[in-house]
Amino acid sequence: MTLIFAHRGAAGTHPENTMVAFREAERVGADGIELDVQLTKDGEIVVIHDETVDRTTDGSGWVHDMTYRDLRKLNAAAKWGGRYGHCPIPHLEEVLAWLEPTKLFINIELKNNRIPYEMLEQKTIALVRRYGLEKRTIFSSFNHNSMRFCRTVAPEIETALLYMEPLHDPWTYVKVMKADGLHPYYRTVTATFVANAQRRGLAVRPFTINKPEAMKTMFAYGVDAIFTDHPRRAKEWKEKT
Ligand code: G3P
Ligand code: CA
Repeated sequence: MTLIFAHRGAAGTHPENTMVAFREAERVGADGIELDVQLTKDGEIVVIHDETVDRTTDGSGWVHDMTYRDLRKLNAAAKWGGRYGHCPIPHLEEVLAWLEPTKLFINIELKNNRIPYEMLEQKTIALVRRYGLEKRTIFSSFNHNSMRFCRTVAPEIETALLYMEPLHDPWTYVKVMKADGLHPYYRTVTATFVANAQRRGLAVRPFTINKPEAMKTMFAYGVDAIFTDHPRRAKEWKEKT
């Protein structure tokens, strides 16, 4: 059965990577949420996709140059014309505290492929353990060495490799990187690839799928999960497929 992960929350209809988007994902029946994490200047784990706050908030500048206190003043719903009021950038802890009593899975994408945030892996692992969410968490990153590190220090938490272009010799590579799953750009995925991966015990969760036709194709391939900005739409199409 293919699970539905709400990408950055229900980012197609709500301000991405905010509590209001994560709550919406749960409300419409998503199986899990996906979010992105980075570190502030003072080492707090915050939930934001870009390395700067410019695109998604009313502020400007680099996340790693701002203190947590200053970053919290920004409105991550500013680009939605007042529809969602003031939505602060969440701390990862706020999301985990909310998620813990739910049944949701969580994919934490470590955004450390452009900026090598020191201790991001260790801090994130510690927080997941503090909330007892090891079995409902999947770590992913475009930084595959970071995933190998996580799998080594926290073997109880699943890891997955994110990528845009098809991997050369994926089966050898994934073993070297100690990953449990592959998170490919969905256009690179074929039915044969999914079958080959799953035969080896590897989960395949393509991103980011918003169009019904592509959703139907992925459901037919039997991928383990899809990432979508539109979890409600995905639920509807899954029921029809
Ligand atoms: O985890 C899937 C997807 O989120 C990766 O790409 O750029 O949306 O973080 P991006
Ligand atoms: Ca992401």
